[in-house]
Amino acid sequence: MISLPQNILSMISYLHSGWALFTVLLVFFTVIRHLRGFLLKKPYGLHSDFRLALLALVVFVIQIILGLLNFFTSDYFAGIREGHTGEYMKNAHTRLIILEHPTMAIVGLLFMLYGFRRMYYHVDPRRKYWAIALFYASALLAVASRLPWKDWI
Ligand code: HEM
Repeated sequence: MISLPQNILSMISYLHSGWALFTVLLVFFTVIRHLRGFLLKKPYGLHSDFRLALLALVVFVIQIILGLLNFFTSDYFAGIREGHTGEYMKNAHTRLIILEHPTMAIVGLLFMLYGFRRMYYHVDPRRKYWAIALFYASALLAVASRLPWKDWI
């Protein structure tokens, strides 16, 4: 476990929890905006749509970095190092926190990176809109399916 002062540890945890709301809302807004562009057959906006898709990706990556920091400074990680992984796996909540939640966050990142790449290389505006709408929505669903909702709300 990385030993940091208690106030820094709670700040990381607080940031991970707060930034999560911003991340989820921004990715959701990006999906809705791209779905609208797709349905209304709009030209793809380099100064609006592209920047929004990039911002959502960057914000998502920051959330993952905060999550990793949170994890490696947490009591869960200390427990794993002390050999409690087996007990953690038997309990649904600890299994969610140490395995399922981080895994689905990484799966979400892969969806977003793939969607962004498809958007970047397509020329047709409708396919650009669709790439972001589809893959960012998939990322959102993946993350939401394994979020510790009860701890958060
Ligand atoms: C987009 C990605 C992610 C989102 C939206 C997200 C969101 C959240 C939320 C909402 C919570 C509950 C916070 C609370 O109890 O108030 C949480 C907890 C947690 N997350 Fe993430 N997370 C993400 C990625 C990650 C990653 C990649 C890790 C790395 C291992 C991680 C590790 C943790 C840990 C360890 C907790 C439990 C914190 C505690 O109980 O003190 N998260 N996450």
